Parts: sequence; structure tokens; C-alpha cells
Amino acid sequence: MKVKLKDIAEKANTSITSVSLVLNNKPCRISDEKKALIKQIAKDNNYTPNINARSLITKETKTLGLIIPDIENIFFSKLTKTIETYCRQFGYALIIVNSNDEYKEDLHLLDLLLARGIDGLFITVSNSAYNHKEEVCSKLKSLTIPYIMIDRVFDELDCNQVYFDNVKGSYMATKYLIENGHTMISCITNSIYSKNTVSRFEGYKKAMKEHGLKIKDEYIIQGDYRIQSGYNTGDMVISNNTTAVFVTNDMMALGLLKRLSEKNIKIPEDLSIVSYDNLLNDFIIGIGITSIDQNISNLGKVACDLMLSLIKNEETEIKKICLDPQLIIKRSVKNFNTLGQGR
Ligand code: RIB
Repeated sequence: MKVKLKDIAEKANTSITSVSLVLNNKPCRISDEKKALIKQIAKDNNYTPNINARSLITKETKTLGLIIPDIENIFFSKLTKTIETYCRQFGYALIIVNSNDEYKEDLHLLDLLLARGIDGLFITVSNSAYNHKEEVCSKLKSLTIPYIMIDRVFDELDCNQVYFDNVKGSYMATKYLIENGHTMISCITNSIYSKNTVSRFEGYKKAMKEHGLKIKDEYIIQGDYRIQSGYNTGDMVISNNTTAVFVTNDMMALGLLKRLSEKNIKIPEDLSIVSYDNLLNDFIIGIGITSIDQNISNLGKVACDLMLSLIKNEETEIKKICLDPQLIIKRSVKNFNTLGQGR
């Protein structure tokens, strides 16, 4: 049977209030011997505090919510792990839910978390939320608890946000290919026009334009940020005569690599690749994939620090924090310059 404060008080021959003060490390006039005795009895009887009872008094559940769009995507599972670990260090439990990239699920899961009495919310909205911005924005605006949009944000919403500079990331990726002598470069993008998708496409266009390179219609191939869609783009990439491909996320790159290997296309000899997220090199043997790294640990840490100060009411102004991505160079890009034959 679960041990209660009352049982410990009886065993220590003291009041329930004293036990509560001691176990919550609150200041009190109780002798050190008695304190030690109370703690020992609690330990011996495997006492665990009843958070529900405590939250009736403190009005805090010590629980936070996290809505992510795709738990199967390594980017989000890593982000989730970082946030969960960090929250736990600060005494918060995290309820993690997955929207499967559906805005209706964003709305439904938000209600579900609110019903659990969370103290704060982290949300990475689904891609489809960008096609239903008004509805999702008005739901978020109605929240009375602190919330932070992570990675996928709405520019027009005046709320706390932590995200990466996606134009910069894809500009660096495309420029790197161009600097290696590539002029015909495909871009595998996401089909829904979320902010990240638009920004990543913008960075690609910016680099191509700056170098006077033409973007033919067939260079732009749509996926959906998932492995299967990357696989499906494979035949188009092979047939459109480009020498390089910029893939706007790792999951699609993974699918594409599978198709290329089935077709015996060698990286980088036959086709050069730059991907986004820099998460594949831990898993793929034989090819090092040049990629844009978004420091997920830092993203999670910055978001958690901000959440803690929001909960403690330390923040007076809305913060929109934009982090820098980084180009990580491996061996998936052929250098036409050293071969003396720019393409
Ligand atoms: O891989 C999923 C992508 O969706 C990531 O690159 C992340 O930035 C997100 O928005």
C-alpha cells in the first residue's frame, strides 16, 4: 500500500505538517535529528510524493507538454530526448505527443494536454498547420499557460519561438555545391509550404541566382520530409541530367540513397549530394554525407531555459530566437574544379 504523509508522521511521532515541511525542504523549526528521522522513514517506506495533491495547493502540476510532428524522424526524436532530459533535471515531467504532421491532431493534442493541467507547452507544429494558420494561431493565442514554438514557427504570431535560419542553411548547402563546380543542381523540397520549406527553397534559389545559374522546372522535385517520398524522387533525380542534388531533409535523403543504390548510382562519382539535418552519418556506412547541421541539443536547451524563465515569470518580453545552422563537409560532393571541368 502507498505510504502517506500521515503514516510517516505517526511513525516519527510528529505532525503531518512537519513531515510535509521536511520532505519539501521548506524552512522550519524542527531539530536536525527529527528531520533525519523523517527522511529515513520516508526512504525506508519508499515514499513518493502525491503530485496531484500537491498541485492543488501550489497550482503547479510540474508537468510540461511537447507536441512534435513526426516521432519517427530522427530530428524530432533527438529533440524530444534533449527536452525530456532537461525538463527532468529541473523537476518537470514531460508528456510527449505526436501529431503525425496533421494540424487537426495539433489542435486535438493541445486540448488533451491542457486537460492534463500542464504548466507549459513546447510545440513544433505540423506541416499542414501552415495551410490552416488562422485556426492554429487562434488556438495558440487563446492559451493561458506559457508556450514556445520550436523549429517550425509562425512569423505572424507574437509568441516565444526558437528556430534555425533556414534560408542561410540552404544557401550554404547550394553554394558549396556551386563552389565545387556544379551548375545543374536539383532541389528536393517539401510539398507543403511551411516556413521551413519556403525558406530552404529560398536559400537554394538565392545561391543559384547569385551565381547566374538557371533553375529548370525539372530540377525542383517535391517530397514530404519522409523516407518514402525521398525514395520516390530517385528516378527523377537520375533522369533530369543534374550532377548534384540538394535534399532539404535527411529522411528524404535516406530514401533517395536507397533508390540510388538500387540503380547502382555511386556517390559522389555519379551524383553529388548535400543534405539537411546532419543526422545520417551515424547510421550510414561507406559514404559521409555533407549536410547542414542544426544543433539540436542547443535548440532544446535554449527552448527549455526560456520555458523555465517563463514559468518563473522572469521574462517580460516575447523572445524570437533564431539560431545559426552549420555546413558539415564530408565526402558526398565531387569537386569538378580539381578535375578541371566545371559543370
Ligand atoms: O527533418 C524534419 C525537418 O523538419 C527538420 O529539418 C526540421 O527543421 C523540421 O522542420
